Amino acid sequence: LKEEARSLIQAAHDPEKLKQLRVKYLGKKGELTGVLRGMKDLSPEERPVVGSLANEVRSQLEQWMEAKERQISEALLEERLKAEAVDVTLPAHPRPFGGIHPLSAITEEIEDIFIGMGFEVAEGPEVEWDSYNFEALNFPKEHPARDMQDSFYITSDILLRTHTSPVQVHAMEEREGQVPVKVICPGKVYRRDDDDATHSHQFAQVEGLVVDRGISMGELHGTLEAFAEKMFAMELETRLRPSYFPFTEPSVEMDISCVQCGGNGCGMCKHTGWIEILGAGMVHPRVLEGAGYDSERYTGFAFGMGLERIALLKYGIDDIRQFYTNDLKFLRQFQSL
Ligand code: PHE
Repeated sequence: LKEEARSLIQAAHDPEKLKQLRVKYLGKKGELTGVLRGMKDLSPEERPVVGSLANEVRSQLEQWMEAKERQISEALLEERLKAEAVDVTLPAHPRPFGGIHPLSAITEEIEDIFIGMGFEVAEGPEVEWDSYNFEALNFPKEHPARDMQDSFYITSDILLRTHTSPVQVHAMEEREGQVPVKVICPGKVYRRDDDDATHSHQFAQVEGLVVDRGISMGELHGTLEAFAEKMFAMELETRLRPSYFPFTEPSVEMDISCVQCGGNGCGMCKHTGWIEILGAGMVHPRVLEGAGYDSERYTGFAFGMGLERIALLKYGIDDIRQFYTNDLKFLRQFQSL
């Protein structure tokens, strides 16, 4: 019996077969169990002999079965590992990589520069009340300055914001008269323009606002000059020219020496040596008061710039529509940003 069991166990190659053998020999009705049961018919002298022999065989069989069981499960594992093996040396299927859109890259860069100067980033709604877009910024109804900004109206008092300046008002209101206010507000703006190389009905601006005690034009100029030098990564000249915006007084526009020719005159600056990059000024007292700031105690400066214009200058792009038409050949040039 022992020899027969041994060769059968040896020959077993799957767990099912082994289970059957366990039943065959060691189960309730198994052959070895039968031998032990039959002991009652033996003489008292034979019993211990047969008993110990049977027990010996039993533990021997159990040992063999256990060993075999281990062998089988190892073999199965081996087989599975082989079947599931991945060949890591096979070449991968190339996947197209996305990239950061140049306008997003510019926005982040501008944010980083101003955050470095202690500004916070604020956002406001693109669908705006007329009262925030114009009224609170000192463009009264029927004010001719409204003609400066042809607008997309949704109702008679709701429109797509024409500039990011209304975020100034939201930012001041949120701070409830607390100083300092030091925010920049990037975002999309909309104007009724026919799209061409230099106009787009949707474009992006970054607004800046500082309100505190004793803020002067000097801070405005210094901040913007530091910004421009960081942005274009070069030393450059800046100049402020008088201008007009209803929400600033005095109002200026800032030019930088041409980033292309260094101010010597080239096609890019139309041979003037200067390029305009933003509008700015001292926040109009009426705007401060309207947003809950005492204009006797506090002054502030504000500025606003078109992001596309900054990107055009920085990357030497000649058509604003490139930013919105998603031509991959154009976009791929900025993949490393
Ligand atoms: N909002 C102005 C524009 O759209 C820019 C500006 C912002 C000017 C802040 C002065 C102060 O042209």
